[in-house]
Amino acid sequence: MNGNTIGERIAAKRKELGFSQQKLAEALHISFQAVSKWETGSASPDIEFLPKLAEILETTTDALLGFQTRKTTIYEKRYQSEEYYWGFQPNYLCYEIMQRKPPVKPYRVLDIGCGEGKDAVFLARNGYLVDAFDLSETGVEKARKLAENCGVSVNFFQADMNDFQPKETYDIIFCSGVLHWLAQEKRNPFFEMLQNSTAEDGLHVMNVFVEKPFIQRAPDADESEFRQKWLSGELFTYYTDWHLPHIEEFVFDCNSGGTPHKHCMDVMIAKKP
Ligand SMILES: C[S@@+](CC[C@H](N)C(=O)[O-])C[C@H]1O[C@@H](n2cnc3c(N)ncnc32)[C@H](O)[C@@H]1O
Repeated sequence: MNGNTIGERIAAKRKELGFSQQKLAEALHISFQAVSKWETGSASPDIEFLPKLAEILETTTDALLGFQTRKTTIYEKRYQSEEYYWGFQPNYLCYEIMQRKPPVKPYRVLDIGCGEGKDAVFLARNGYLVDAFDLSETGVEKARKLAENCGVSVNFFQADMNDFQPKETYDIIFCSGVLHWLAQEKRNPFFEMLQNSTAEDGLHVMNVFVEKPFIQRAPDADESEFRQKWLSGELFTYYTDWHLPHIEEFVFDCNSGGTPHKHCMDVMIAKKP
């Protein structure tokens, strides 16, 4: 969120949503002069206003207070090289998307944590209308370059899934290799928000690394406090009232960092009823 002070962040969000100071003040049952004072920095909102203010401005109290859970990721460094760290081969789940929702019309796709853009670009090349974001500025820059080189248009932008609010309704939401950065307490509201921003018959296609007692932590695993644990099967529990035409869990070999090790992954294709 833009702005160095809480007032600037309130003003930026208010303008983004097209609200006047008067409209915001009315929603909070206060005077517009109070809103004006917050925005100019001559006063700050009382703490009890923050949850309501965040709700009206379609953001979080953390974001209003300027708290960012993670400004950079381990990937930022990996993306610095000219090489594409993840290569150009689309994830096999992109083909699942094409089979289950063939691009007979320009379906809207959201790719969460798009990295360097290989999947978003692949889907755009095949006729989908794609919005895609990542926390890493460098990743997003490379993704834009890839789209340009492939002659397709993708709306790439930098954002943090922890405070992302969709402005569109999507037919397909895709998220691969990213959810282990989503904190436990954010999961319920996150999936609820994504589900509400999905068209009827829309698809969510996602995977997540899960913990297993018989699998050791990868030797090159990021030990950062931001990496989050997921329980086996947990992802599916956020979709109990959706159709789940495909769920699976598998263990696979990995050689990242040069030492062979294993990971366990849950995969889900969910369809909105
Ligand atoms: C394993 S990579 C997967 C990239 C891409 N989905 C792919 O499969 O090529 C994980 C990605 O998640 C992004 N990421 C991590 N935390 C994020 C957050 N809070 N919001 C958005 N993206 C995030 C990283 O920057 C990184 O690009």
